[in-house]
Amino acid sequence: MKIGNLEFETPVFLAPMAGVTDMAYRIIAHDMGCPLCYAEMVSVQGIHFRNDKTLSMLHTEPRERPIAMQLFGPDEKGVAEAASYVEKLGTADILDFNMGCPAPKIVKNGEGSALMRNPEKAEKILRAARSAVTLPFTVKMRKGWDDAHVNVVEMAKRAEQAGVDAVTVHGRTREQFYSGRADWDIIAEVKRAVNIPVIANGDVRSFEDLDAIRERTGADGVMIGRAAQGNPWIFRRLTHYWKTGEKLPGPTMQERADMILRHLDLLLEFKGDYIGPREMRKHATWYTRGLPHGAELRKFFHQAETKEDFLRILEKFFYMETK
Ligand SMILES: Cc1cc2nc3c(=O)[nH]c(=O)nc-3n(C[C@H](O)[C@H](O)[C@H](O)COP(=O)(O)O)c2cc1C
Repeated sequence: MKIGNLEFETPVFLAPMAGVTDMAYRIIAHDMGCPLCYAEMVSVQGIHFRNDKTLSMLHTEPRERPIAMQLFGPDEKGVAEAASYVEKLGTADILDFNMGCPAPKIVKNGEGSALMRNPEKAEKILRAARSAVTLPFTVKMRKGWDDAHVNVVEMAKRAEQAGVDAVTVHGRTREQFYSGRADWDIIAEVKRAVNIPVIANGDVRSFEDLDAIRERTGADGVMIGRAAQGNPWIFRRLTHYWKTGEKLPGPTMQERADMILRHLDLLLEFKGDYIGPREMRKHATWYTRGLPHGAELRKFFHQAETKEDFLRILEKFFYMETK
């Protein structure tokens, strides 16, 4: 599939996830074959006020390119200004706009999924951002606000008219947050309604899901969120499967242990000795999901404060298991 001038042979993308798809994880996912990673959503207000933390989120490294940067904001002026700022930084290859975040504090500001309730406003924002940048510009939306207001087909058409290059659809309403099953049939409806590429999102975890969502929706690409937490191998496996039909095995214990250390090293490099290990706790827990001694491992990981702590835990559990 193509997004603007960028072509993807095996379009299995990493979904934007706040608190997860930072530079460390994106580099890992990229190395595992993910052809396009979406960064964590970034506030246009934070960019406007040149907030240090916000600006640090716009940093990327050449080794993770191409990369998509996602913005969220409530108004056309702010979004256009922020989009232009990011384009000038030169750190992103695609700009994406968030119309899906269900968090109350975001919705309260008229941002994220709140825009699903305000189609005219949303279209104005998309038009303004589109004309502010030359980079490929995409949008990610939900099925609608709630079951009584399912309007993603209309919204995707508006996005297309606004000149957006591709649309990602997460097949849940705002009211559902992350519960229930994602509705893949609504994604199929969007695909039939627009001519721009459609990326299908929601509940893809396996080879079978990949086949099913492609067949059911006809979508051009697929985006993986939660199933990629602690599981960057999913990109190697699903892209290889897309290309060849062959099912590669999952990671060995040794590969998991090595990946935890690699991830930790990247977090130490980018976030330092204090924040790095603390952010690694949740990732380490995800990397070891479903393994023996899970509860015990989680307890130890949650107390880890240094690289040595992680090494000790891995030594104790992983290498013991593999010997
Ligand atoms: C921890 C977490 C953070 C998320 N942050 C974002 C975000 O910043 N921007 C966004 O558009 N979606 C965000 N999402 C939604 C995901 O991109 C994705 O649409 C959703 O998880 C459904 O896909 P999945 O079933 O593959 O997880 C987030 C989801 C999770 C679980």
